[in-house]
Amino acid sequence: MKKIRHLLSMSDLAKNELLTLLNRACQLKEGWSKGARPRPLADKSVALVFEKPSTRTRVSFEVGVAQLGGKPVFISAADSQLSRSEPTRDTARVLSRYVDAIVIRTFGQNIIEELARFATIPVINALTDSHHPCQVLSDLMTVLEHFGRVQGLNYCWLGDGNNMANSWIEAAGILGLSLALACPKGYEPDAAILDAAQKNGARITLGANPQEAIKGADVVSTDVWASMGQEDEAAGRKAVFAGYRLDETLLAKAAEQAVVLHCLPAHRDEEISEGVLEGPQSLVWQEAENRLHLQKALMEFLLEA
Ligand code: CP
Ligand code: NVA
Repeated sequence: MKKIRHLLSMSDLAKNELLTLLNRACQLKEGWSKGARPRPLADKSVALVFEKPSTRTRVSFEVGVAQLGGKPVFISAADSQLSRSEPTRDTARVLSRYVDAIVIRTFGQNIIEELARFATIPVINALTDSHHPCQVLSDLMTVLEHFGRVQGLNYCWLGDGNNMANSWIEAAGILGLSLALACPKGYEPDAAILDAAQKNGARITLGANPQEAIKGADVVSTDVWASMGQEDEAAGRKAVFAGYRLDETLLAKAAEQAVVLHCLPAHRDEEISEGVLEGPQSLVWQEAENRLHLQKALMEFLLEA
């Protein structure tokens, strides 16, 4: 029987698959601008299940499925039986009978793992509390476009050890990247994920000093201090993270040609200054655009697998 491929976290991809995906995404982006209209999802439908808010992920998946010739079916958890406690495993088996893939944004990683266990179609992680692989893949695509390579660069992560940080760590492990993280004590990324990636041979360091982590970095990433679901902690976190703001003074310590990534939405003058976000080193709009192209390449890959 054919093995169903999922993207529950970055670690579902082998190094060669990841690199091929980035190149394919660039190819699709260029092809689309020149009028190419491949339709690998013709006669296929993709369910988009969202249990948290979204602008970029929802729109880029809906448009991406349509551009590939398929039909996106958006399901807000609040309006579905998920909000009335229908078990994940039942939802998985029912949706598998209607559509060809499930894209889901949810809370615990255990939810998406259970969905994948019971689904007979590919499941794609559109963000969980622990991982955001579609975003980090799009970020790597943006780096590839800018520098012409993703390997042999110094990456830096500033702020919360959240879902984005975990996905960056996994990416570093797979690709053997050099990644320096600075996170406040008590807000570190998942220790098991970090340990596994370090054992893979990646040069990953974790400290609490942003000035140290950013030194000589080519790619600097940050994210909100309070993620979705942590709204109650927002005020307390502002005080803890105050020294981690990516502003012009901090960015000056990075490499001269450094670029800045932020998955958005951004909180100006909290985790990133207005000047850095809108400045010449920021690639955030290109990064957001690339969600569309990268996810098209991803769906093509998983549905053809
Ligand atoms: N970056 C990202 O995932 O944005 P949305 O929450 O708008 O989807
Ligand atoms: N870490 C953020 C990312 C938003 C795209 C969150 O989970 O809310």
